[in-house]
Amino acid sequence: MKRINTGIEGIDEFTNGFPEGRTLLITGDAGSGKTILGLQFAYTCCLQNLKTAYITTEEDAEDLYIQSEAFNWDIKDCTDKGMLKFVELAKIRAEVTEAEVKIEIDSMKGNFAKLLEIIPEDTEALIIDNIGSYTAKLTPYDFRSRLDLLVYELKKRNITALIILDSATSYEFNEIALYSVYGAIKLMKRENPYTGRRERVMDVVKMRSTKTPTQFLTYEIGPTGIEINSAINLK
Ligand SMILES: Nc1ncnc2c1ncn2[C@@H]1O[C@H](COP(=O)(O)OP(=O)(O)OP(=O)(O)O)[C@@H](O)[C@H]1O
Ligand SMILES: [Mg+2]
Repeated sequence: MKRINTGIEGIDEFTNGFPEGRTLLITGDAGSGKTILGLQFAYTCCLQNLKTAYITTEEDAEDLYIQSEAFNWDIKDCTDKGMLKFVELAKIRAEVTEAEVKIEIDSMKGNFAKLLEIIPEDTEALIIDNIGSYTAKLTPYDFRSRLDLLVYELKKRNITALIILDSATSYEFNEIALYSVYGAIKLMKRENPYTGRRERVMDVVKMRSTKTPTQFLTYEIGPTGIEINSAINLK
């Protein structure tokens, strides 16, 4: 299976990159670094010459450019070269008429596979940040089956995807989203029992056909984005 670098060094080390055409789910608390991880993945995909689309439901592209600058990721160059395209659903939701992509938002509600209609035909890598914005009033059963359908369609189009889901919505559906996807990573903060300090940790919940660490990996948001500090022990 061809693998795509995620841009997170520690993860690329033990996975050799994420399998092409598969979906990775990122869940996490507010401020845990989901968007930064999404941008890091988008940028890394562009560096690998993959046509990348970033669907943003909460922030507009301008904020994402600003965030990327903090890490010296030249996202603007990627969009200028046509490697990266932002689809700004937040803007559309705010009823900005000059929105780049015009879609009927109500028809989108919960109908995740429709998201694929608004990205370029030739998309090879996709980030959806945050799919939790489109789950209103869904039953857990509907949520699961619609997410399954999206993952299936992505695989059919051979799109390597990173789907972000806020942990509030993930818990609302009893974390069933974790079952639909090929790989899943949870981002959280916890208190270190030894130091008493709070730290950022990630749990690599699963990654099919890949040996994954069972311990929490501590990470920081540093000058190069998400940086894993833990030594990774796969024994
Ligand atoms: N340049 C930076 N250097 C270090 N840390 C940063 C930097 N920029 C942002 N952060 C930290 O990252 C956090 C936000 O990360 P991010 O926006 O990726 O979180 P998120 O999980 O997407 O949050 P939300 O649930 O609100 O969408 C900030 O709250 C801040 O603590
Ligand atoms: Mg975010």
